Amino acid sequence: MTKKFYITTPIYYVNARPHIGHAYTTLACDTIARRHRMLGDDTWFLTGTDEHGQKIERAAQAAGKTPQQFTDEISAEFRALWARMGLTHDDFIRTTSVRHQEGVQALWRKIRDNGYIYKGTYTGQYCVSDELYVDAVGPGAPCPDCGRPTETVHEENYYFKLSAFQDQLIRLYTEQPDFIRPETRRNEVLSFVRGGLRDLSISRSTFSWGIPVPDDPKHVIYVWLDALANYITALGYGSNDASKFDKYWPADVHMIGKEIVRFHCVYWPAFLLAAGLPLPRGITAHGWLLFEESKMSKSRGNIVRAETIVDVLGTDALRYFLLREVVFGQDGSFSFDALVQRYNSDLANGLGNLASRTLTMINRYFKGEVPYPSHAASIPHDKYVVKFAETVITGTQAWYDEFSFSRALETIWALIAEVDKYIVQNEPWSLGEKKDEESRSRLATVLYTSAEALRIVTALAHPVMPDATAKIWAQMGLGDIRKLDLTQLQWGQLRLGTKLGEVQAVFPRADKSAVERMQKMEEQNASGVTGVPPIQPSEARQPVVASAIPSTLAKPAATIPDGKISIDDFAKVELRVAQVKTAERVKGADKLLRLEVDLGTEVRQLVAGIAEAYEPETLIGRKVVIVANLAPRKLRGLESNGMIVAASPEGGKPVLASFLEDVPVGTRLK
Ligand code: MSP
Repeated sequence: MTKKFYITTPIYYVNARPHIGHAYTTLACDTIARRHRMLGDDTWFLTGTDEHGQKIERAAQAAGKTPQQFTDEISAEFRALWARMGLTHDDFIRTTSVRHQEGVQALWRKIRDNGYIYKGTYTGQYCVSDELYVDAVGPGAPCPDCGRPTETVHEENYYFKLSAFQDQLIRLYTEQPDFIRPETRRNEVLSFVRGGLRDLSISRSTFSWGIPVPDDPKHVIYVWLDALANYITALGYGSNDASKFDKYWPADVHMIGKEIVRFHCVYWPAFLLAAGLPLPRGITAHGWLLFEESKMSKSRGNIVRAETIVDVLGTDALRYFLLREVVFGQDGSFSFDALVQRYNSDLANGLGNLASRTLTMINRYFKGEVPYPSHAASIPHDKYVVKFAETVITGTQAWYDEFSFSRALETIWALIAEVDKYIVQNEPWSLGEKKDEESRSRLATVLYTSAEALRIVTALAHPVMPDATAKIWAQMGLGDIRKLDLTQLQWGQLRLGTKLGEVQAVFPRADKSAVERMQKMEEQNASGVTGVPPIQPSEARQPVVASAIPSTLAKPAATIPDGKISIDDFAKVELRVAQVKTAERVKGADKLLRLEVDLGTEVRQLVAGIAEAYEPETLIGRKVVIVANLAPRKLRGLESNGMIVAASPEGGKPVLASFLEDVPVGTRLK
């Protein structure tokens, strides 16, 4: 009976355009999905975009777009890139789609009706970037997870009884040790859960960009509950047609980056248990791609786009490099130099060279037909290659099963090295010069052995490098590689007399200029210079989307030391002197004042968290510093148009920035 296999990527936030960090997870899943199809499994591969929440709402605001317009554009970029890279997901879910929203509401109702949702109030710090309540003290205190400043919120929310699942979760991790892989992540989760679970707030009422809570639309559903549910809503959970859900759920693999382990390994199984649904079979967390020593991410401004590499070296080169160079599960560095070096050594000189030399010699000496090996002319070295190849087949499959891609590729490339040695030692080119029977038989054996090894290498490497291997397969006259049954792969299946197709180089050597070209493309893209090749001719980059990119991206990361910003970045923050015209307390908020300030050219309303430090009357006429170009946001229903600058001493009250000398209203601080 055919086995089913369901694999998912995280759904990506659309506040950032795709980069090779996102591509890394997606292509790893694509590799696994392709392999499972080759193993004959009924495979379903899901990816998508995560489009709700305050973070996205703010990014859209900063770009001067409605959240829907903004998410439509960036989600389309993800889809266009995946299409361009030839990824084989069976579905792409958007959390703004109707099918998802209905599914999430159905899940909410189920959990609620099972008694795991109640109403409560929360006052404390919130990290917008992580979309998470955190244990931090005071306004602006750093988030313990990501270090970014937190915001104080006071909300009436719906809570999920997470605490009720502590024992069940611990049992799950202990009884099913491969539920979380690798083990380091499992241990982290186990100790987190053993430390005690508090109930989780699962609704928000301070912003509206989300899925309304059923029967209480003032609240929207917490973005992580919304997002995690994609794994089932995409299969039709909660809809009239649950046939895919019945067939594919539970997922066999949720693939994620290590920073979202807690959401997937604690919250997600708890939500499912509360809804009475089966749990995924396993969650695998990989490490981060680093660029210049730190995690590649939009907020650090050190991203590399996949398009650049795809343009210059092709998708297979990117896939091979990331899966070969980075030990899956651990962090690994990306650099253009290392990429080109590996491309040349392993692909151009390795697989590419083996294919072209073997097939060219078959063309030259046997008129393009796979020759008959001769038992009589066989020597121990031939048998050694056969044995070697057999071990490589078993070894590679085992490494793939564990998602140890680098080991799998190392193993396949060991066979390439062995065959290279075999060819050099057996000198088919010298045998080809001789016309005697014995030399012809030997030549046939050497070339058959080399070609059969090449076929095995090609089949095993196919999930990682689908394009190049499909070409080699066709050049070998073997037809469509996707029809290959990987479970049956063994030595000796290359049929004698097979007619080769046209032989062409699959990996032309890259010269040094490839590195410079790629670096230049990234620099130009980061500084917004036009003329960078777009994803697809029909989908030229939107200037608006570019303006949503944080200022740290504006300069090539390479020139700015980690953790620093350039002077141009600083110049983007418009600090101005303003004079307070009116000030009053905000009802129901102990810490907030509503101010109207004069900027010289206009009067603005601000909401500032300084009520505990200043009586409103004492501020009238005072000159203060404000961030004048901050995107407007709402606090307590009041629009705040800018931010007042104050020192925030640890545990103390805020102190407004001011001047000893008199400064005209509107003056810019530089
Ligand atoms: N939207 C959430 C996930 C919800 S899943 C129910 C999210 N999105 S994200 O856009 O931030 O993407 C996170 C994922 O992208 C990571 O978990 C990882 O799979 C991938 N990566 C993003 N940057 C990466 C690196 N620098 N390195 C490796 N993977 C990276 O979190």
